[in-house]
Amino acid sequence: MGASVTHQPIRAVFLGAPGAGKGTQAKMMAGRCGALHVSSGDMLREHRRRGTDLGRRAQGYMDRGQLVPDDLVVAMVLERIRQPDAGRSWILDGFPRTLPQAQSLDRSLHAERAGGGTAAVRHVAYFDVPDAILVRRLTGRRTCSNSACGAIWHVEFQPPRVAGVCDSCGGQLAQRPDDREDVVHQRLEAYRTQTEPLLDYYAGRGVLVEVDADQPPEAVLADLVGKLDG
Ligand code: AP5
Repeated sequence: MGASVTHQPIRAVFLGAPGAGKGTQAKMMAGRCGALHVSSGDMLREHRRRGTDLGRRAQGYMDRGQLVPDDLVVAMVLERIRQPDAGRSWILDGFPRTLPQAQSLDRSLHAERAGGGTAAVRHVAYFDVPDAILVRRLTGRRTCSNSACGAIWHVEFQPPRVAGVCDSCGGQLAQRPDDREDVVHQRLEAYRTQTEPLLDYYAGRGVLVEVDADQPPEAVLADLVGKLDG
């Protein structure tokens, strides 16, 4: 893997439909370059698990495959990337997902830069996968229930050695409730109407790169790194 992308701060947004492989790639990339992986979906699920007010307010939207209201998500993510452990490198996975979210992120980073910080979204990677593949990926996904691990598997494309058991930590694998096929179609619809317009938004800022995500994960990562370096 080319080295330069790992030798400069990464401030990246990973964009793509549900099941495009954003989480899989963000974990691989963050593991290699030491960036903080910030997944808005994982953060919301953790709030639900802990039964916080935010978790309770997000629950119905997530179960129906709808986006959680912008104000709830923006505050949660911006607060996270201001923490000291976010340092100078982060990968945002699943955020922003609407134009107002992207504008809030830009405003926040602009204010940070004005205060002497080095913040700016340097890269936006769009993971492109055909719809028919997305549905198979989502309905076959299994996730480690151990929240400290959270490894992502697939019954067909990335099966663990023992069915139902995480190779990484031995935790139990579970299907996300929103990976049921009826909810998956709602999520894809929300993506098309609310998130896809961000491709033009970031292309207009000259930071968008497109990755062919319909190939094995290691090949996707190689493509991603090549594009970020380029
Ligand atoms: P979230 O958790 O962000 O879900 P998502 O965007 O729908 O994305 P996924 O996690 O489903 O897919 P992914 O692209 O990460 O794919 P993965 O790598 O897992 O959001 C859930 C909900 O939270 C939303 O519906 C919404 O309600 C709410 N929410 C979250 N953020 C929000 C925001 N900003 N604003 C408002 N609401 C928000 O891969 C999928 C499967 O494919 C896995 O099984 C994996 O093993 C397999 N796979 C991955 N890559 C490959 C490959 N290259 N080849 C073969 N199989 C592969």
